[in-house]
Amino acid sequence: MEESKASVTASICAYIRANADSYGIGFSDPFAKGFLGGDGGRGVRRIIQGAGSGVYELFSDVTIARAAWAEGHLRCFAAGHDRVQYVILGAGFDSFAWRNRNRAIRVFEVDHPDTQRLKLELADSLGIAQISGATFTGVDFSRDSLEEKLLLGGFDPSLPSFFTILGVSWYLPFTAFAQTVRSISGLSQGRARLLFDFQGRNFSSSARGRALSDFTASLGEQMAPGYSLTATEALLFEAGFAASDHLDGAAISRRFTPDRTPSGQIPDGVHFMAAAR
Ligand SMILES: C[S@@+](CC[C@H](N)C(=O)[O-])C[C@H]1O[C@@H](n2cnc3c(N)ncnc32)[C@H](O)[C@@H]1O
Repeated sequence: MEESKASVTASICAYIRANADSYGIGFSDPFAKGFLGGDGGRGVRRIIQGAGSGVYELFSDVTIARAAWAEGHLRCFAAGHDRVQYVILGAGFDSFAWRNRNRAIRVFEVDHPDTQRLKLELADSLGIAQISGATFTGVDFSRDSLEEKLLLGGFDPSLPSFFTILGVSWYLPFTAFAQTVRSISGLSQGRARLLFDFQGRNFSSSARGRALSDFTASLGEQMAPGYSLTATEALLFEAGFAASDHLDGAAISRRFTPDRTPSGQIPDGVHFMAAAR
């Protein structure tokens, strides 16, 4: 991300979330439109129109599928505990904190300070900045200590905790992602879940992967090289997590976008990974 600039891809995700109902997969985000700002998404629409053929469709399918997938897992996790902490890393304009009706879930939103600042300004302009049961923490994963900032924000390591990192690893070099996973491991003494999506090396070096990364680079958000599946699994193992739900592109397509033509399906090199400890 460019210095002192909120994430544009996060605004594209808000635009996609605002249109989530059209997917018919039970995921809806009535707050997303408000986070598009005063122009109601016209600026984002112009950006999307500049994306190459199929690029926006893929971006959009992955964004909605991972949101629906993660919140499904969260509901199951929360149902098994009296109190849980939900830490949304790289939250962007995810509005779960506002949509949440389960008082047993305390939300910690973590994001790059520039994106989070814009989100809180927009929330203020919408009159929804005062929100109970949610804490907002600015962290740059490539520089700051996640542990320090979350603990300062009131995170309780002894409570069951559910962490998501959605749409973020794509932009983080593997070393920065690995450090984030180790921090999460160090932070959770109780039961924990970790859910994330990532692009495998085979996808980032494919024509579709390069088209996607050219698009985000044109917005000032350079993607990192894809991760090796073996290295990612080894990282989880070392951090004390066991993979509990791993979906590759074909499995994601089957579950969330079954009506796409073969060329429009999510490629196999895109992964959703849920891990437990
Ligand atoms: C594509 S958006 C995804 C937003 C949200 N998770 C979603 O799925 O709607 C990527 C998010 O990652 C955050 N991000 C990217 N690099 C980051 C970094 N180094 N530190 C903290 N956040 C970062 C951006 O601020 C942005 O909110």
